[in-house]
Amino acid sequence: MSYWSWDQSLSVGVDVIDGQHQRIVDYINDLHLAKQEQNRDKVSTILTALVDYTRTHFVFEEDIMKQSRYPLAESHKKVHDAFILHINEYIRQHESGKDVTPKLLSELQIWLTNHIKKDDRDYALCVNKMTKKGWIQKTLSRFFG
Ligand SMILES: [Fe+2]
Ligand SMILES: [Fe+2]
Repeated sequence: MSYWSWDQSLSVGVDVIDGQHQRIVDYINDLHLAKQEQNRDKVSTILTALVDYTRTHFVFEEDIMKQSRYPLAESHKKVHDAFILHINEYIRQHESGKDVTPKLLSELQIWLTNHIKKDDRDYALCVNKMTKKGWIQKTLSRFFG
């Protein structure tokens, strides 16, 4: 059984954003699996991939918030930046040999659930109002190739 499953309660109403959140949930499940297997190398690799992907997702969100003239874009970005700093601290601890994965997994799940349901859903409403076919797709290919 997986650690966490994405479900409709986490939907923000924009498919491409939901897809990215689902991918983050997948990484978290992979991280949980690697921890269960006691595979430290795999934990390190997944941690790096998870942070890379999440950072790209954040930059993507920040870009579409700007394009849709979301009024709280600046404060939303600050929340992203603080979260990345926090996760980087976990990575530092992991690299120094500490077993931080269980705590990190639960923090990731709680933080993401709250962030998606409040902050992301709020800007997604604005994006949905502004959506003209094409621009979100163009932004997507700029960030995710
Ligand atoms: Fe998000
Ligand atoms: Fe966000």
